[in-house]
Amino acid sequence: MFTFKKCILPAAALLLLCSCQQSSTKNGQNKPMETAQMPNSDNFKATVNGKQVQLYTISNGQMKAAITNSGGRLVSLFVPDSSGKMVDVVLGYNHLKDYETYTKNGSYFGALIGRYGNRIAKGKFTLDGKTYSLPINNAPNSLHGGPKGFSTQVWDVVKTSPNSIELHYLSKDGEEGYPGNLNVNVTYTLTNDHALQIAYKATTDKATVLNLTNHSYFNLNGDGGTVNNHKLQLNASRFTPVDSTLIPTGKLEPVAGTPFDFTKPEIIGSRIDAKNQQLMYGKGYDHNFVLDTKVKGEHLAATVWGDKSGIEMQVYTDQPGIQFYGGNFMEGGDKGKSGSPYEKRTALCLETQHFPDSPNQPQFPTTTLKPGETFNSVTSYKFVMNK
Ligand code: GLA
Repeated sequence: MFTFKKCILPAAALLLLCSCQQSSTKNGQNKPMETAQMPNSDNFKATVNGKQVQLYTISNGQMKAAITNSGGRLVSLFVPDSSGKMVDVVLGYNHLKDYETYTKNGSYFGALIGRYGNRIAKGKFTLDGKTYSLPINNAPNSLHGGPKGFSTQVWDVVKTSPNSIELHYLSKDGEEGYPGNLNVNVTYTLTNDHALQIAYKATTDKATVLNLTNHSYFNLNGDGGTVNNHKLQLNASRFTPVDSTLIPTGKLEPVAGTPFDFTKPEIIGSRIDAKNQQLMYGKGYDHNFVLDTKVKGEHLAATVWGDKSGIEMQVYTDQPGIQFYGGNFMEGGDKGKSGSPYEKRTALCLETQHFPDSPNQPQFPTTTLKPGETFNSVTSYKFVMNK
């Protein structure tokens, strides 16, 4: 028997479904549509070392980010591409446990790095006449704060707001070989001018060395595919060449006339196979660039363009250097957020920083932090919209 309920309601539901699908296909003229999904926050709920881990979502209306207090990681960063489609521009996983399982690729994905980002030669440095020994986790050097660096720690969540989250970590005196109780606060904010801003603050009770950064792996086309066709510009006319173990030789060399010249926009892969000893040492780009700083405070350090998405990202920082790492050590074998493996050079990192091995290179800007001083630094990943 014909009833209103049996016939009209299903028809109305069908109509509603069609109109939703239609508004997605009309995307570009209408509201932005999301292709990738935010990871399920349930997959990030855990108690680690007695601390609660969760996934937090922040938004500024046009962009959305997911951050977990495990390693202070940026898990997802959605920005609209030139047609309004929402693209997740950072690599990561759908489950907290994947970050532990896929240590080869994923151990630093999106993570906060400390106490010392990048390498310290042979894991040794001397401060105020005392020599400190750090664990060697990237033989023969110590990398990214050691095997139990900040990327492996659970951060305390101090404050959240719709567009920001503040994290805190107390790195105890002697942790991973570094002196001093170091209190670090990091605030991620999605600003009104389309930026993911990362603000770092640190104090210590004993002289120590410090180099804080974020290790996000960007692919401006979204998940999968090489970044070799992305374009890159670096505001750096010099870089710090390295030895075969990726420790700076101590010289600042001009990039002019070398594959390291990104002072004008260049396709990343265009010179990557050039016969060049520095490229051989890094297995591609894995070098610190000396930023041409003309103003105090945040300045434009780098610009990247996604070749397929048209997304343009600008990196601003007040730090003296930026590590351009082209994903040379990525190996596949894992499953990323979209299910595809993260193969060699499917992402790039632009780690704003002090120069690697500064504690052993007195001619480099100092990385020493003393009691009574406050380290403050800001880096912003800003997206150019409505072109
Ligand atoms: C940094 C280093 C690279 C590599 C990555 C992580 O960028 O410079 O050599 O260790 O981190 O894989």
